[in-house]
Amino acid sequence: MTDETDIGPVGAAHVPVLVAEVVEWLRPRPDARLVDATVGLGGHAAALLAAAPGATLLAVDRDPDALAAASARLAAAPGRVVPRRATFDRLPALLAELGWDDGADAVLVDLGLSSLQLDTPARGFAFRHPGPLDMRMDPAAPVSAADVVNGWPEADLDALLRNLGEERQHRRIARAIVRARPLATTADLARVVEGVLGAPGRGIHPATRTFQAIRLAVNDELGQLDRLLDGGWRLVRPGGRLAIIAYHSLEDRRVKTAFRAWAATCHCPPGIVECRCGWRPTVRRLTRRPVRPSDAEVARNPRARSARLRVVERLAEGA
Ligand SMILES: C[S@@+](CC[C@H](N)C(=O)[O-])C[C@H]1O[C@@H](n2cnc3c(N)ncnc32)[C@H](O)[C@@H]1O
Repeated sequence: MTDETDIGPVGAAHVPVLVAEVVEWLRPRPDARLVDATVGLGGHAAALLAAAPGATLLAVDRDPDALAAASARLAAAPGRVVPRRATFDRLPALLAELGWDDGADAVLVDLGLSSLQLDTPARGFAFRHPGPLDMRMDPAAPVSAADVVNGWPEADLDALLRNLGEERQHRRIARAIVRARPLATTADLARVVEGVLGAPGRGIHPATRTFQAIRLAVNDELGQLDRLLDGGWRLVRPGGRLAIIAYHSLEDRRVKTAFRAWAATCHCPPGIVECRCGWRPTVRRLTRRPVRPSDAEVARNPRARSARLRVVERLAEGA
């Protein structure tokens, strides 16, 4: 399915998740203003551009390597792609720069990491391959995983593993990390976690939740998402659609809650008989339940297994 809509030669190794569903739900029209807020290796962007001849795409990523790879891949659509290295909480300003102050027609946010980041040991995201403790999506960002692992007080590490890793053994792992300091590599960190939880077995790798927590903190991923969702319906103009793909419950819960609040007809406290808030819904929820990848997609691309796609459409003013 990816090949049918592919317009570029680069990136065969990266398989975009739910790509047909994204194109179907965003239904980009010819001449549309498109935004890929997390362009990664450009798989979704290529599919959206192929589906919408004449459309212009604002391609955003905070990772310069990803943006370069996406730009190369999308070179087959000359003049239709505007690449910007930025975090997506800056989208309102980026839209304004293009004169799209009233919003885009379709915005995609595909959260998390690209294969380029995960599969390059030097980027420090992978626990299966030794690399430096880095985990920065933007290599110029001030805080790396080494700063967190070697510098944070034990109590802060403990809270991090509990809150962002949802790790049940948070206290024991935090203590073991502090005792083993200084840690230099992803393999060192994975070994410390294995020392507490045991060697990898059949299920998920024991270090998965610890790595997730540290990565989320290093990149302020939930803060980024919260800022995007704060008034995020304004990113699209009336009739326009916003699609977000989340990969774990901490993200998906935020997306679900925001979409529900935007679509609500009233924000009065419970128990009020007559609405006094005067709230008008700003969007219609197109996906009450998240769209999940098919078994066939998960078999082809195991990284798709936890993906959840939700989509809203902005309503006309005063609808
Ligand atoms: C799952 S990948 C996107 C893959 C892409 N959809 C494709 O088809 O190749 C997520 C990308 O979003 C980028 N990213 C994550 N959080 C970001 C943020 N807050 N602002 C900008 N880019 C971000 C990452 O650097 C990564 O390249």
